[in-house]
Amino acid sequence: MRLAVIREGRALLYIPDTRRAVTEHGGLEPAWLEVFYNPVMTFNRDLSVLIAEAFLSSTGLSAFFVDALAGTGVRGVRYALELSRVQEGIVNDIDPSAFRLITMNVKMNALNGVLRPANRDANVLLLSLRRELGMTFNLVDVDPFGSPAPYLASAISALGRGGLLGVTATDLAVLGGSKPLAAKRRYWVNTPLPLRHYREVAIRSLLGYMASVLTFSGVESETLVMITASASLVFTSPGKLPTSCPGLLASVTVIR
Ligand SMILES: C[S@@+](CC[C@H](N)C(=O)[O-])C[C@H]1O[C@@H](n2cnc3c(N)ncnc32)[C@H](O)[C@@H]1O
Repeated sequence: MRLAVIREGRALLYIPDTRRAVTEHGGLEPAWLEVFYNPVMTFNRDLSVLIAEAFLSSTGLSAFFVDALAGTGVRGVRYALELSRVQEGIVNDIDPSAFRLITMNVKMNALNGVLRPANRDANVLLLSLRRELGMTFNLVDVDPFGSPAPYLASAISALGRGGLLGVTATDLAVLGGSKPLAAKRRYWVNTPLPLRHYREVAIRSLLGYMASVLTFSGVESETLVMITASASLVFTSPGKLPTSCPGLLASVTVIR
């Protein structure tokens, strides 16, 4: 793989040479890269770092985190370099080329004792952390291609009580109402027609689905931040473990 070196936040990163992914209009198509890296999502990652920092400093916790679908590892490396207190992180991707790049990026940023690269299916990894190793984390980040729906239950299982779950969804056309059948299949939601407020619809559709998965898992949670820009970003903190979740369920309205 031909590589380039870039800086994002405090991280110095190897990314795939972007010349292979230039569209006929001169834009960059991140999905064409051998390992995914999208510069447009820098704002999303900036927000993730800021929100995690605010959360951790308000709770007095040191970050013990999992970046479950990491691509180049940019988000995990930035968490490790930019959060003021970091204990340890796992930076994982199922793709062997991504794993190689994560390993190189961990080394380039002198994070060998702090970050552990992993090369597993995110669901298998997240479920095994608690169930096999008895480990729970105070920050779990889920940033997949498109929908985070397949990873929510396992992410919640790896998260300790009072931790922080960061979820990015880039399938805004589905969440916002342009693809109603896909929205029903993926998120069990009837979206209204995509109007001017599709970003608002998108974030609420995602939140409604997250509420149902949290409820299945028996977890009450507090949504701390929700933003839709080029993707929807939700940070939520699972708290108590009640037998029912009245607060969460009461806030969900079904649109018919
Ligand atoms: C959108 S990219 C991640 C971007 C990265 N979080 C960032 O901020 O640049 C999604 C990544 O998920 C990885 N992936 C896809 N399916 C996976 C799975 N089942 N388990 C772990 N990683 C997976 C892909 O190889 C890809 O690198």
